[in-house]
Amino acid sequence: MALPGGIKHVEELAVEGKRVFVRVDYNVPLDKKTKQITDDARITATLPTLKHLIGRGARIVLGSHLGRPDGQVKPELSLEPVAARLAALLGQDVVLADEPTGDGAKKVVSDLRDGQIVMLENLRFDAREEANDEDFARTLASYCDVYVNDAFGTAHRAHASTAGMVKFVAEAGAGYVMAKEIEVLSRLLGNVERPYVAVLGGAKVSDKIEVLDALLGKVNSIVIGGAMANTFLEAQGKSLGASKVERDKLPVARNFLRKASESKVTVHLPTDVVVAANLDDAEGSKAVSVDAIAADAMALDIGPVTLEAYRKVLAAARTVFWNGPMGVFEKPRFAAGTVGIARALAENKLALTVVGGGDSAAAIAQAGLADKVTHVSTGGGASLEFVQGLDLPGIAALRPGK
Ligand code: 3PG
Repeated sequence: MALPGGIKHVEELAVEGKRVFVRVDYNVPLDKKTKQITDDARITATLPTLKHLIGRGARIVLGSHLGRPDGQVKPELSLEPVAARLAALLGQDVVLADEPTGDGAKKVVSDLRDGQIVMLENLRFDAREEANDEDFARTLASYCDVYVNDAFGTAHRAHASTAGMVKFVAEAGAGYVMAKEIEVLSRLLGNVERPYVAVLGGAKVSDKIEVLDALLGKVNSIVIGGAMANTFLEAQGKSLGASKVERDKLPVARNFLRKASESKVTVHLPTDVVVAANLDDAEGSKAVSVDAIAADAMALDIGPVTLEAYRKVLAAARTVFWNGPMGVFEKPRFAAGTVGIARALAENKLALTVVGGGDSAAAIAQAGLADKVTHVSTGGGASLEFVQGLDLPGIAALRPGK
């Protein structure tokens, strides 16, 4: 597969008997109480790359972060459960070093034999990882002969293991996860089939305004849901009752709606919502028009009339990018909008349908429809930056001459 910018695919790299550093994104969700991994999709996604390398007799050094320990050693964010899960999935030992770098790490790396795997401890236990410190990058690079990045989910971060170390390694390339993400997401930046519809949800306008602005130059329409829609509705003069609204973002929302209309991009906002007194008030929940939200009611999902309208927009689309839930989908009573959007994407067989990671990936998996869309990205923030047309540091570093 030829990747843009001359980036090499792992299949093109000579790895036999070589030490290969693979940056993976094993930032998986853990159960707060039991510390068990609740979704191992980011681990299973990397198996093709690892199996390829094992098959070629490479000596594999895995590097990842988990959570945000901010440069502190936090035992609850150890990669220990991740190494154990990977070992079970591969049916072979995965030795976990007790630190990201240092004598212990150096020793396990030098003891590696062909086809074996070691994992460094959480790279963010060392503040130099996120600081993209040059010495730290050089140390990581000293553990390998070849660098492979399969951590698309972290490609938007310019850290030592995602960007800094690459220039100190003779050979670099993309793993299967990274290559597929680049291949599919690049199609959204090219000459797409139209209509191109972006579906954006989630809690905050402030998290999505940059992507909203960037998409104005690319899409034909934008479908909005989630608590973010409340702010847009209030910006249009509606009363949202006790709903979450970012009042300080009303001017930003108004400005965006004006720019969209100038750019001839249609913005679809809810006309009805499911309201309740609070998140646990499933009994008292009901659908109401956005013109009739009571002072003590909270909007927690898009309503059925809105969903029907959104489904029509999506049925006519030929390219779709979706990021962010339409409501509080973790609660069954407020999940219909999000599940309905997942179904609408799955039913459109004529369109290129791409789901950005994070909550929308979790929602489509929960609905059992992940294999019915063109692509479910492993990256949340990373896929949002990619579809804006930004150059992600983790991808830029893989281009020859960088
Ligand atoms: C993610 O889950 O989005 C990536 O692993 C990046 O994590 P971060 O937002 O803590 O950098």
